[in-house]
Amino acid sequence: MEKTVQLYEGKAKKVFATEDPEIVIVSYKDDATALDGLKKGTIVGKGAINNRMSNYIMRLLEKHGVPTHFVEELNDRETAVKKVSIVPLEVIIRNISAGSFAKRYGVEEGIVFKEPTIEFSYKNDDLHDPLINSYHALALGLATKEEIETIKKMAFKVNEVMKEYFKGLGVTLVDFKLEFGRLSDGSIVLADEISPDTCRFWDSKTNEKLDKDRFRRDMGGVEDAYKEMMRRVFGE
Ligand code: TMP
Ligand code: ASP
Repeated sequence: MEKTVQLYEGKAKKVFATEDPEIVIVSYKDDATALDGLKKGTIVGKGAINNRMSNYIMRLLEKHGVPTHFVEELNDRETAVKKVSIVPLEVIIRNISAGSFAKRYGVEEGIVFKEPTIEFSYKNDDLHDPLINSYHALALGLATKEEIETIKKMAFKVNEVMKEYFKGLGVTLVDFKLEFGRLSDGSIVLADEISPDTCRFWDSKTNEKLDKDRFRRDMGGVEDAYKEMMRRVFGE
């Protein structure tokens, strides 16, 4: 599969067209941003790690009946995926309090919830991705009722599969962000990526952070955290 023209460049990835109108190629960058792009940096090796890890998890999810955009890993940084139109919602599942949840509700990080939670943000950089509820998403025409129901079910299923999988690697899945897309036939698939950029991973024994929070919070050891997650998943 060959890239033709570049369709889009985002903060962490580029997307290229191919000869096949239903397939695009995603190319993962080492660039990292936080705070709505205000904080910029490079995490050496991140592109390859996120590409390989995301593909591994997408395949695992497919095995558990979750449809995804994944088609084929082309090389370290590049993957062919089904072309989708992205539903402009960031879907966040939380098992443990952290990040904006802890801040918004004035609670400490690390409270284990009895049940996982779900929330949506409206993907809109100009508005800084505001929190949105499903009624507002419907009112704005971002998705249909059926699509929102499908997305909720799929997101909780992803949580069940990933929680178990990471537990086996000695990693606690604290929270994560998913994005969904529509295929040309209108069906919903899991899209974007699943990686230390989009999940909070804590070492199960020490609670050490093994994700992008090390970059967001200037904690140091960012590359080592990504490499450690790579080692847990692939043993390398
Ligand atoms: P939050 O606590 O900052 O709302 O983040 C919740 C989860 O979503 C966390 O695992 C990090 C992930 N996330 C993204 O993938 N992209 C983003 O732009 C933000 C703000 C969070
Ligand atoms: N990637 C997001 C941004 O640049 C934020 C984040 O992941 O924290 O704003």
